Amino acid sequence: MAESAEIILDGKSYTLPVIEGTEHEKAFDIGKLRDQTGYVTLDSGYKNTGATKSAITFLDGEEGILRYRGYPIEQLAEKSTFLEVAYLLIYGALPNKAELDEFSHQITKHTLVHEDVRKIFDGFPSAAHPMGILSSLICSLTAFYPKSIDPDQSAEEINLNILRLMAKISTIAAWTYKNSQGHPLNYPRNDLDYTSNFLYMMFSFPTEKYEINPVVVSALNKLLILHADHEQNCSTSTVRLVGSANASLYGSVSAGINALWGPLHGGANQEVVEMLEAIQRDGGDTSKFIAKAKDKNDPFRLMGFGHRVYKNFDPRAKIIKKAADEVLAALGINDPLLTIAQELEQAALTDPYFVERKLYPNVDFYSGIIYKAIGIPTEMFTVMFALGRLPGWIAQWKEMRENKEPIGRPRQIYTGELERDYVSIENR
Ligand code: SDX
Repeated sequence: MAESAEIILDGKSYTLPVIEGTEHEKAFDIGKLRDQTGYVTLDSGYKNTGATKSAITFLDGEEGILRYRGYPIEQLAEKSTFLEVAYLLIYGALPNKAELDEFSHQITKHTLVHEDVRKIFDGFPSAAHPMGILSSLICSLTAFYPKSIDPDQSAEEINLNILRLMAKISTIAAWTYKNSQGHPLNYPRNDLDYTSNFLYMMFSFPTEKYEINPVVVSALNKLLILHADHEQNCSTSTVRLVGSANASLYGSVSAGINALWGPLHGGANQEVVEMLEAIQRDGGDTSKFIAKAKDKNDPFRLMGFGHRVYKNFDPRAKIIKKAADEVLAALGINDPLLTIAQELEQAALTDPYFVERKLYPNVDFYSGIIYKAIGIPTEMFTVMFALGRLPGWIAQWKEMRENKEPIGRPRQIYTGELERDYVSIENR
């Protein structure tokens, strides 16, 4: 007998079907609730509300589990490459060698950006935040590829837009950095792999040859893999909601970039390093900042700590913390911010306030230490998060479209004025 939930409203009993996922997560389906009962549910921040069924990423916040298409991120971070993981997320299976070579070749082929995009770039002041430039330029791709706006485009045309987006975001991201530094832009090189090409476009100078360091390439690959998807987080839900209106992939991802920019979401990696630098400037007394984070009258939060879903260690934070130690050692860097971060972590993990609220370091706590070590400036950290998260956004948008999900339109409970008549301005 299939499980069901019973609710009793105004003395009447209603039965709601229960659905169970492959990992035995359960939900009761309220798809017909309002029609049957006249009631809607209310769940500010969707803390208890499932928006969709998805086969892309599974995470268990209590157990600290994260898997892409069933593969544990610990194995993918150790053994895979970012493009292979992107293929896995977008197409649902690990590619064989021929498939991966073709995917990589197609992406390499599309890394060049239309010269008119440079004219848009030139319009941005050097002080413009890279995330604002990135979301604008990704949306501008609809102007250069107008067929991407057509909701009835073929699967082949959708796939071409996916390849273009995966390829061009790395060029545009590197150009946002060069634009912020007032440096000449670097054009992509077809002889380099995805991650090496990005580093080349970021750091190469006409005056000196940029040596691509395999330690840096490996660390960046790992970071991009760990950021690649995270089921229905704020920015991914934004991409799905915008895409559910049949908006283009480029427009949907541009919206997701803006959601990710928020300091409570992807913007936290920039905030973490700025917080660590503030602690360093203040003399390094972490206990003072722990007290501020606990003080209800102080808006200060321990950035990089806490998570809506993980009530245990964020498994990505564990891997990134280990990688931070390895990269700094390999590059011979002694970053005092890492020491402050480790002290902060230890203090928080033993403090009842954090323990009671199950606040642990999240993906953003250590990632900035690595970005900084490989020369990426703080303002570019969230751009790096977007670069990593892109295949996840694409995969979720594609799944939503293929499943023909309806346009997202939540309900509300109205708490405003009752009906009243208009009053002319003379009588107000
Ligand atoms: C990402 O969803 C995802 O999957 C996101 C992400 C992804 O991969 O897409 O994992 C990426 O966004 C990671 C999170 C990055 N953000 C930060 O590091 C910012 C700092 N953390 C938070 O502001 C907070 O923890 C959130 C936003 C991450 C989660 O917020 P929730 O789930 O809405 O929890 P909450 O704000 O209701 O906090 C519960 C309690 C509150 O205290 P009480 O009211 O119960 O007394 O915990 C406290 C909060 O004040 N709290 C913190 C805190 N985070 C929560 N107190 C101090 N410092 C913090 N960081």
